[in-house]
Amino acid sequence: MSKRAPDRDCHVLSPDSDGIATAEAFLRRGELVAIPTETVYGLAGNAMDNTAIAGIFAVKNRPRFNPLITHFADQDAAWQHVMPNQRAQRLADTFWPGPLTLVLPKRNDSTISHLTSTGLSTLAVRVPAHPAARLLLITTQIPLAAPSANPSGTLSPTRASHVIEGLGDKIAGVVDGGTCPVGIESTVVGFDGDSPVLLRHGGVSQDRIEASIGTVAVATEHSTVSSPGMLRRHYAPSTPLTLNAETAKAGELMLGFGPDMPAGAPAGSLNLSVSGDLTEAAANIFSMLRELDAMNANGIVVMPIPADGLGRAINDRLMRASSEV
Ligand code: TXA
Ligand code: MG
Repeated sequence: MSKRAPDRDCHVLSPDSDGIATAEAFLRRGELVAIPTETVYGLAGNAMDNTAIAGIFAVKNRPRFNPLITHFADQDAAWQHVMPNQRAQRLADTFWPGPLTLVLPKRNDSTISHLTSTGLSTLAVRVPAHPAARLLLITTQIPLAAPSANPSGTLSPTRASHVIEGLGDKIAGVVDGGTCPVGIESTVVGFDGDSPVLLRHGGVSQDRIEASIGTVAVATEHSTVSSPGMLRRHYAPSTPLTLNAETAKAGELMLGFGPDMPAGAPAGSLNLSVSGDLTEAAANIFSMLRELDAMNANGIVVMPIPADGLGRAINDRLMRASSEV
């Protein structure tokens, strides 16, 4: 358990060298700091520090079997801890820095805490693209374990204010880097031997992964290679969610997509992208669900969203958010 006092001030830090220096001082003391990434805000701790990692699980109330992603300044830093195969190397060359996570065999001499990978023989690694995350990783050279900076099971944060709402009384600080541009978590790719397996749809679409390395298998809960994080209900608002809806009943709110949103949609309804742009919809999904959730409606109904490109990741998050399990 964390020894930290239950109530504390969360310092809001600027994304420049001053703010990053303060974040570094906290991290070197084993404290936790939320940082912006291009996908969502991450709750960062020194991945080599057992106390910091135990703190991440405690603060998020995260199941102890669900391993964390470790973030690095560049490929060389990541390859000190894991062994890339050829396809992993190609993916890293193509998509890093960026919203892609690779699950690879951990090196025997890796100094990353076993708590980070929950004792597995693999480690999830990523080089994020957000300038503030890069500045922090490059100046400190500390590998940072960082799950999304929200209480486990709730909507992921895409603004500093979302982090403060969910975890503000439990963490040392948050680097405010504005709104996360991608808005949806990284794509996670693992390997069955040398064969690539897509473990989570995310910010790099399956099409772009396949254009780089050829066909990938998509993991299910029953695959040999799977991700402990594939819990069905996840990323959930507290208002019940209905998918693929065309109309809203009285007392409900609509989350639309595209130009055909019904003109008579209830007041307060939102549109993920009026022009039907999936990149824009991904950037809006978590913050709009949050906004609608705060309006205490009887339900949120979501219009159909095409399952191509980033639409797969969006539909994946919506399916989990609506799941009763
Ligand atoms: O975009 C993102 O990935 C964000 C930002 C902060 O980087 N992070 C994030 O972390 O989404 P988190 O903890 O919410 O999701 C990590 C996912 C989980 O589904 C977890 O099970 C999976 O990665 N994972 C981590 N290590 C793994 C491993 N060794 N084997 C299989 N899956 C792993
Ligand atoms: Mg998460």
